Amino acid sequence: MSKDRNGLPGIRMASAPADRFKIGVNRGPAVTITRVTSVHPLGACTLIPFSRMSVIQETHLIQREDARGSLVAIEGLVDVAFDIKRIYYIHGTGPDVRRGCHAHFHLRQMAVCVQGSCRFVMDNGFERAEHVLDNKATGLVIEPMVWHEMYDFSPDCVLLVLADAPYDKGDYIHDYGHFLELAESKSSDSNRLVA
Ligand code: TYD
Repeated sequence: MSKDRNGLPGIRMASAPADRFKIGVNRGPAVTITRVTSVHPLGACTLIPFSRMSVIQETHLIQREDARGSLVAIEGLVDVAFDIKRIYYIHGTGPDVRRGCHAHFHLRQMAVCVQGSCRFVMDNGFERAEHVLDNKATGLVIEPMVWHEMYDFSPDCVLLVLADAPYDKGDYIHDYGHFLELAESKSSDSNRLVA
């Protein structure tokens, strides 16, 4: 049985501080992710099987405005539900370019379009959704085992990405067929557990 980085078999834990992290699908009505306090997989905590997680998770960041302009701060474990270990940004990407096209085994990330816009395809093997990122105060959470592709970059797009781990080539899944097989097997494991 596969285990995630928390040692939980095939199960994703929603660990975001309450109220600040929202799940929504394509800008539809948002709901707050349940805060998880227990660390035991079969204890008194909310377990969300992969196949039942919404593939689009938006985080609404606080934008501090005054006469001088606007400021958005992103603090690890405060504004994003993980400790930030790496930051990278993508810019100068042509309109016909497609980036990403992979999933990660373990990495958690949050993408913020700090300038311009781009589109995402987010796919957890069960749900596939397209999403526009065009707001400097909106983060898109990219959970482990979510296939993501970025495209339709505006000429001025600057896509900032925060990650919870250093760069690790071995954490990438580049083959979509392999990704689907892994997603299916993780779902079978978690469905067996919650049944
Ligand atoms: P790549 O993974 O192809 O980018 P994308 O996800 O947008 O398709 O990364 C491009 C190059 O940058 C590749 O040689 C790997 C390297 N890279 C790093 O060195 N560190 C990083 O944190 C990232 C994300 C990529």
